Amino acid sequence: MRTVTLETLFIHPIVQKYVGRSGIAHAIEVAEKAFHIAKSTNVSPDLATKAALLHDIGHYKWYENGKWNFDLYKENDIHAIKGAARAHKLLVRLGENLQDAKAIALAILLHTDSYLPEGHLKLSPLQQIVAKADEADEEPHGAHHYKEIDAESALNRIRLLDQKIDNLLQSNDLEHTS
Ligand SMILES: [Fe+2]
Repeated sequence: MRTVTLETLFIHPIVQKYVGRSGIAHAIEVAEKAFHIAKSTNVSPDLATKAALLHDIGHYKWYENGKWNFDLYKENDIHAIKGAARAHKLLVRLGENLQDAKAIALAILLHTDSYLPEGHLKLSPLQQIVAKADEADEEPHGAHHYKEIDAESALNRIRLLDQKIDNLLQSNDLEHTS
């Protein structure tokens, strides 16, 4: 049994506030993509979907006179750092296993390298999944952050994903015990 489900996270006011800012539709899309990649690569679908759902929780609104200032964002953004810390705090508060909370936070920290100095990072399979799933949903000029979804469909997709994760974890357990 998972201590923290996607639904627990999704309905939390912190997630609604900050993921609402960076785009609920994008976060769900990335979580669904992460599930499929995790399933086909034997990585924990629980960790991959949580990191994917929360990957942009550290975003700040870079507005100037009511408009998104992309240059300001590029120069000053640290959303992955902020997001990793924010997600970690929330997960621990909700009772997540500490190793899992750390793995999720690191996957969020490394889902983009746009704020890092030049160089090559060796990402773990979990970290690669979150980065790939995010990239797959990216649209020019950050349009993926503005995609809309109504609250009911959003919650339904989160619940469906929770079910799929439970089913997959259960069938993996059966495989190991048979
Ligand atoms: Fe993203």
